[in-house]
Amino acid sequence: MQFDRISFLKQLKARKERIEQHLLGCLPVDAYPPVIHQAMHYAVSNGGKRLRPIMTAEGAVLAGMPDQLVMTTACAIEMIHCYSLVHDDLPAMDDDDLRRGKPTCHIVFGEANAILTGDALLTRAFELMAANAAEPGIDPGNAVRAIREVAAAIGSSGMIGGQVLDLQWVGQQIELKDLQCLHLLKTGALFQAALRAGAILAGMDEERLKALDDYARHFGLAFQITDDILDVNGNEELIGKPVGSDQKNQKTTYVSLFGLEAAHDLARQSAEQCLQALAGFGREADFLRNLVCFILQRDN
Ligand code: IPE
Ligand code: IPE
Ligand code: MG
Ligand code: MG
Ligand code: MG
Repeated sequence: MQFDRISFLKQLKARKERIEQHLLGCLPVDAYPPVIHQAMHYAVSNGGKRLRPIMTAEGAVLAGMPDQLVMTTACAIEMIHCYSLVHDDLPAMDDDDLRRGKPTCHIVFGEANAILTGDALLTRAFELMAANAAEPGIDPGNAVRAIREVAAAIGSSGMIGGQVLDLQWVGQQIELKDLQCLHLLKTGALFQAALRAGAILAGMDEERLKALDDYARHFGLAFQITDDILDVNGNEELIGKPVGSDQKNQKTTYVSLFGLEAAHDLARQSAEQCLQALAGFGREADFLRNLVCFILQRDN
């Protein structure tokens, strides 16, 4: 399969716009008290690539369901991601002041409000996923399974566990397998849950779900390796966040352990494994194939 970047960017843009339309309707406007709702809007609107909700929508389409039926869950997953970014940027964590090209949530709204904004986005996400379960065309049993999987993926043995290891291993020389575990948890788990949630809501069979798991895990790795690379050689205007944050915080990353060149090679290997995971799918999985090719070349 040949990767056609121009045509893929058009597809990606169309999907992103659909997510953003729905996303705005998922947050209350003019609700009381104003400050928390303004901060939630601030953290969610503008600038994100929306890759995780795009994956949720794609999971449903691959299982033969119109993505409209899983849009609310897709947006819930983007809110979970936004919450994780608000907290990741806090002074007690990465202490960064720029996100998606704007001052971070705690810079604008203060630290206490930023903590509460993360809490509120996470809570709203579960409200939305439960609402999706009641939609006609969605099997409530599938919806409960999807919610349970998302919860497990972002909890103490998933994304939060990864964030804990990320802080615990500051400044340390660790082995490749440990770094892989960290990346799979802090980044891979949410991608995996995002893709699976859409597919589960649409009733995909176990064998194909397993293939999507493999794809999403390797995708998460490739994605976080390229994030580590962009932290070193990215353009701050394009990535919309500070370059050099990992070095400032003495984070152990693929680049700090192996150097840029080897990090690129490892990202390519993970991308290759993504493609292998999709071997049992036909042309219908071309978007996911292209997505991982795109990730290897991304500049933001
Ligand atoms: C940033 O994720 C956090 C990581 C897990 C590396 P993204 O690069 O997807 O952030 P946005 O949503 O596009 O801003
Ligand atoms: C963030 O990883 C992972 C989560 C938010 C769960 P990073 O700390 O590398 O993300 P950026 O570089 O700040 O976006
Ligand atoms: Mg971090
Ligand atoms: Mg960070
Ligand atoms: Mg990073």
